[in-house]
Amino acid sequence: MTETKREARPLRSTAWFGHNDRDGFIHRSWMRNQGLPSHVFDGRPVIGICNTFSELTPCNAHFRGLADYVKRGIWEAGGLPLEFPVFSLGETNLRPTAMLFRNLASMDVEESIRGNPIDGVVLLAGCDKTTPALIMGAASCDLPAILLSGGPMLNGKLGGRDIGSGTSVWKFSEEVSAGKMTVESFMEAEACMSRSPGHCMTMGTASTMACVSEALGLTLPGNAAIPAVDSRRNVLAHLTGRRIVEMVREDLCPSDILVRDAFQNAARVVGAIGGSTNAVIHLLAIAGRIGTQHELSDWDTWGRGVPTLVDLMPSGRFLMEDFFYAGGLPAVLRDLGEHGLLQKDALTVNGQSIWESCREAPVHNRQVIREWDNPLHPEGGLVVLRGNLAPRGAVLKPSAATAELLVHRGRAVVFENIEDYKARIAAPDLDVDETSVLVLKNCGPKGYPGMPEVGNMGLPPKLLEKGVRDMVRLSDARMSGTAYGTVALHVAPEAAAGGPLALVEQGDLIELDVPSRKLHLDVSDEELARRAEQWSPPEPAMRGGYQSLYIEHVQQADLGADLDFLVGCRGAEVPRESH
Ligand code: FES
Repeated sequence: MTETKREARPLRSTAWFGHNDRDGFIHRSWMRNQGLPSHVFDGRPVIGICNTFSELTPCNAHFRGLADYVKRGIWEAGGLPLEFPVFSLGETNLRPTAMLFRNLASMDVEESIRGNPIDGVVLLAGCDKTTPALIMGAASCDLPAILLSGGPMLNGKLGGRDIGSGTSVWKFSEEVSAGKMTVESFMEAEACMSRSPGHCMTMGTASTMACVSEALGLTLPGNAAIPAVDSRRNVLAHLTGRRIVEMVREDLCPSDILVRDAFQNAARVVGAIGGSTNAVIHLLAIAGRIGTQHELSDWDTWGRGVPTLVDLMPSGRFLMEDFFYAGGLPAVLRDLGEHGLLQKDALTVNGQSIWESCREAPVHNRQVIREWDNPLHPEGGLVVLRGNLAPRGAVLKPSAATAELLVHRGRAVVFENIEDYKARIAAPDLDVDETSVLVLKNCGPKGYPGMPEVGNMGLPPKLLEKGVRDMVRLSDARMSGTAYGTVALHVAPEAAAGGPLALVEQGDLIELDVPSRKLHLDVSDEELARRAEQWSPPEPAMRGGYQSLYIEHVQQADLGADLDFLVGCRGAEVPRESH
């Protein structure tokens, strides 16, 4: 079927390289300064390798070498590989938050693909935001595309025990605050955590998005978990290069793969792996680009009945290296399929259905990938909360929360913004106890801007010293996929857009009821109307340039926080340039 599609449409690269006229001369001649012989312009598929390599993105710093293995596969299959750089988003370095630039990077990807003589593209992604940015950009062009993750780091090791990216940092810094860990030990952990190339090896956002990409069908099977330094990652890169050439010949495009069933599979996988809440925002944005119907409420529907099987930090005990040895994502997909929670016919980039790709997948370790009737958490699906505090929804991850806090009523301790939080959280006279609800405003898409990962705000030191380890927290921010706690996030509309969150005052009673999916502010409608009349939007923290464009056009979290003018698939057509 797919070969017929290809016959109907010539390779788009022939519009650049396929003519013996002045334009063809120009397009080929300059390319030949790279030592390319004339026969590589013989009409073979031209494959772009979209590379997010950057030494400022440590998780992707090994990508130049990885791209070489992709090129081997492309050459072997009869394609012409051409590598190009795009904006790289390093989670640990980029300020004010890498999320502010996800949409900008996606524009770079989209225009780089469309404007160049490319027939198909390999997307090299690793660190959190690089994966959604690349998929979003490729989806808006809809040329054949396959994703290759850079792979996770090896397990961190401290004093003979495993420590995990992010998760252990949050834990250790709390222990330092509580006086239970010395600063010297903390520094030693810093040196032991990141032992190899690769991205965070917890089930944080990068690992989650690698799993999500595989569940969507955008990668070859097994992509998500192979450690970055394992030779099998390079083998997969080679095979990915081979496969994209075939995909071009078959005209197998993202729109064939990113159908509603694929999003359902991805959402269920997030529940089964104990994945990051960030996946919600990224999948909503990807669906918006390709034009597939997908709404925030789907997460609550699709996630019900999905147990968390994968016992990885931050929800559980193990790390991505263990997950790979245990069988990786194909084993989880098989478990979901055998229990009626996989859309088996969803097509993947290898040309087979997802079920054909995983139905024989073995499990090697049932401690890491737990038995269906002995899960880490019986209800692992992300939860969508609604109520007068979040009319358009908020998200909570039950597997990372404290069971006793999932139904809770407490007094609000309100922070107007992140600076206010930082200034007062450690104050000895802060009016707070363990039953309080910490509320953080103005950290949504417009408010910060860029919706930073500050939703899992650290607890007041005076409560940490008392042994308190979790409290209900509420904000319009996101939280790191490596973080944990009873945290309601992504409140929409956000405070800076005039959402009800903006109206919460110190001491108001807030009710969280996860089984009923309820997030309620116990203040009368009349009082809220009075407060709304007095409310005025905060001054933007940044002005001018991309930040102003972003604040003006960013959508709310329930729509994926994409820029409104980037939503949709614009295809790969481009007017032919004449020199
Ligand atoms: Fe890059 Fe965690 S900082 S994946």
